[in-house]
Amino acid sequence: MFDLVIRNANLPDGRTGIDIAIAGGRIAAVETGITAEAGQLIDAGGRLVSPPFVDPHFHMDATLSLGLPRMNRSGTLLEGIALWGELRPTLTREALVERALRYCDLAVTQGLLAIRTHVDTSDPRLVTVEAMLEVQERVAPYVDLQLVAFPQDGYFRAADGVSALDRALDMGVNIVGGIPHFERTMADGAASVEALCRIAADRGLPVDMHCDETDDPLSRHVETLATQTVRFGLQGRVAGSHLTSMHSMDNYYVSKLIPLIAEARMHAIANPLINIMLQGRHDTYPKRRGMTRVPELLAAGVNVAFGHDCVMDPWYSMGSGDMLEVAHMAVHVAQMASIVDKQTIFDIITHGNARAMGLADYGLEMGCNADLVILQARDPVEALRLRANRLTVIKRGKVIAQTPPRLSALMLEGRPAEVDAAAYAPKTA
Ligand code: FE2
Repeated sequence: MFDLVIRNANLPDGRTGIDIAIAGGRIAAVETGITAEAGQLIDAGGRLVSPPFVDPHFHMDATLSLGLPRMNRSGTLLEGIALWGELRPTLTREALVERALRYCDLAVTQGLLAIRTHVDTSDPRLVTVEAMLEVQERVAPYVDLQLVAFPQDGYFRAADGVSALDRALDMGVNIVGGIPHFERTMADGAASVEALCRIAADRGLPVDMHCDETDDPLSRHVETLATQTVRFGLQGRVAGSHLTSMHSMDNYYVSKLIPLIAEARMHAIANPLINIMLQGRHDTYPKRRGMTRVPELLAAGVNVAFGHDCVMDPWYSMGSGDMLEVAHMAVHVAQMASIVDKQTIFDIITHGNARAMGLADYGLEMGCNADLVILQARDPVEALRLRANRLTVIKRGKVIAQTPPRLSALMLEGRPAEVDAAAYAPKTA
């Protein structure tokens, strides 16, 4: 007897009419025609059942703080950093926890069940670290939350940057971050990459660094990160986040750089919504797109991931915890519009992102964690196009969120009989 069986599912790999059986919080069978008894039955009705969405790059200490203490007038990354610097001294643990918990509730309804957040270590009070450690513990039953020690004001540039990052790691943050392009000089940036990779090697931790989040075609920290990754034996444990300078680099130089990234088995994390919003701000026309070279990295065998990065904070006034929105923007910015491209992008916001975060037992195979989302779409391409409703969200075999079907999508699916006419009929007096 199973705890739960989901009948008649379409899977992201194209299989249809599949039953998924769950027992003890894990996937026990994925096949057609499961007849064994189950405590609970859900009919997916030929809709897409996917592993949950994963966000490998977020800033949960800043989320939902939009307008505090004022708006970002120029819309640039640098004004965002300055604005965050104004807000930071006023932050309290209680307010940080309250906003983060609200965001995690939103994430769950969007089928987003694993998030890696960078936690700013620039304020030596480390109230951000205390708050995010508390949030990590409180959301553990429903969100797998990873924390990165992130020296927002520069590891060397901030007065207490070096010691604060060390203390954050001692407190339990277990990924090493960095921001080499924000150090005072290119040389300081390169030195910070080396120092931070050394810390990761000494402590046995992964690295996830904001790297070359700039339009400067001569920024070279990605190259340094790839080199130090190999030098310290960190292959497969290092992520380079943003990498936007690669958009503006000389093509010949990139033909050397991408193989270095592949050799280091680095994960490349682009943030389509934020990159298209913040980059190219010093351009007149034409304006650069500012996202890293996704198709070229994929072609070289690099694991590409997509993050949400920001939701309603000093850098980005929009966002809704929706990885399909992130992917929708990626389709446009990367100009990946073919059916195969869109399937690849859906695979990125699930499996690619899970690989970047090093998640264990993720997926739809037997033995994987029974973490699943039933979408109001028939396949990944339709899910992307409609940014489909997440009808049912399941964590370790238990339903943790449900959303009613969207009427317009029911019509598009050709299910008019399921539309409750009363729900949209014109009201009469
Ligand atoms: Fe970021």
